[in-house]
Amino acid sequence: MNRNKSVHRRTVLRAAAGTGVLLTLSPGLLLTGCDGGVKAVESETLGLDSDEYDVELNLYAMPDSVPILPGAPSEVWRYRAELLKGPENTVSEHPDSYLGPTIRLRRGQTVRIHIHNELPEDTTVHWHGLHVPSDVDGQPRLPIRPGETMTVGFEVLDRAGLFWYHSHAHGKQGGRVGFQSYAGLAGLLIVEDEEEAGLKLPSGDNELLLALQDRTFAGNNELVYMGGGMGSMMDRMHGFLGDRVLANGAPPTTRKVATRPYRIRVLNGSNARIYKLAWSDGRPVTVIGADGGLLQEPEDRPYAVLAPAQRLDIWVDLSEFQPGDALELISDRFRAGMMSGGMMDGMGMMGSNALPLGSRFPLARLEVAESVEASKPLPAQLGVQRQTIPVNRNTRIRSFELSPVMMRGFAINGRRFDGTNVADDEKVRLGDTEIWEFHNSTPMPHPMHIHGLQFNVVGRRGGNSDSLQQGLVDSGWHDTVLVMPRETVQVAMKFERFDGLYIYHCHNMEHEDAGMMRYFQVQG
Ligand code: C2O
Ligand code: CU
Repeated sequence: MNRNKSVHRRTVLRAAAGTGVLLTLSPGLLLTGCDGGVKAVESETLGLDSDEYDVELNLYAMPDSVPILPGAPSEVWRYRAELLKGPENTVSEHPDSYLGPTIRLRRGQTVRIHIHNELPEDTTVHWHGLHVPSDVDGQPRLPIRPGETMTVGFEVLDRAGLFWYHSHAHGKQGGRVGFQSYAGLAGLLIVEDEEEAGLKLPSGDNELLLALQDRTFAGNNELVYMGGGMGSMMDRMHGFLGDRVLANGAPPTTRKVATRPYRIRVLNGSNARIYKLAWSDGRPVTVIGADGGLLQEPEDRPYAVLAPAQRLDIWVDLSEFQPGDALELISDRFRAGMMSGGMMDGMGMMGSNALPLGSRFPLARLEVAESVEASKPLPAQLGVQRQTIPVNRNTRIRSFELSPVMMRGFAINGRRFDGTNVADDEKVRLGDTEIWEFHNSTPMPHPMHIHGLQFNVVGRRGGNSDSLQQGLVDSGWHDTVLVMPRETVQVAMKFERFDGLYIYHCHNMEHEDAGMMRYFQVQG
């Protein structure tokens, strides 16, 4: 059934305004402001009147200046929100950080968001992982011009989970996702529901949110994106790696904790870096959820791999600890597939970056400050209400070959981003279940993301991911899957409810921006 009633209105309001914005994100990269009118664009798909929405907010994409490191504040682009209607905890800001406000929604709510672009260039806001209509998905085909406001409305249909939102601009000059997200345009989005609430997992102060991103700063704390010349070429090839890691837009901190269980929800919001999450004392990582919410049951892993755009939900019980004890969440050492024996050896990562892919570094330090009697065991059954997608021999398999394009990045089935042009083998039917098979014939890992749905990983074969293998969490629901060099990964999905254009792409943002992205069409 197509419930997308697509009441698509475009109204254009004009008002006088002149914005002069100057932002330096790296020496030599100067963006100048625009003088333009203010327009409002409506992209409503629910056909509800304003007062029928449960939640309404203003979301501003704007230049700002925030203290990230000691010393001078850094120029950033960031989101700010203003709650107009809805529960008070819907929006929580991160002070002293560029990270966008955390938006907390409940399944079943109707939400209306007025996105104001106060940047000097086009932007969009993509609700990563959410099952929303094509027109509110923040795709590059519907840019919000500088000075414009776009209103989107959607119903929260997803089960509980950690999602996120970020820019998805891609213009004639190429993709701007890497640049804009790097400048700060990203934030966390949490969906809550009854099933999850019933499990009484650690919440409030006992739920830690961690958005991991790596950044490079110049001498006066300016954010530096791509280097010049050869360095820049390698950055585009591998994806940009910063030389330090930030958690929630600030250097990793120590959290005072108590002797009790904690829920740690981690987003990899980095442009290209892969993390290997582990505990400093070697205890197993207890994974309870992934991109699309809780797993059916907890899984203990020696470590857990988090590729760009992925989320992991981790549970840890500190009740055995004594006050004064500490435990660190780290990213452990690993051998990146691309460096082993391929043509890339010795280039790029090794010489040029202070924090190469696969280095070991801390992410968060938990310091036990208080002894409490609060040990509550983790339920053996977690998210069991949504059954995995049934597939069988007759399920259609659609194959996608990831291959290198000489000096120009990577292609999907030989094609690169071509606006809304959709090839015949990129058209699917509403209501169908399909298996998509990604075969990676490049020397690099690619985190493949499909818009508008959550899929199940059916299986993987081949590949060379020895030092990451045991940490690939494939159970549960995902919107992004890591495909290692020479590996073939199958994912099963059902195209439900919404027809229209969606996107699939590599979420290494530099790969994506260089064209490793395509539209596909769900035909009603
Ligand atoms: Cu996280 Cu196409 O996006
Ligand atoms: Cu890629």
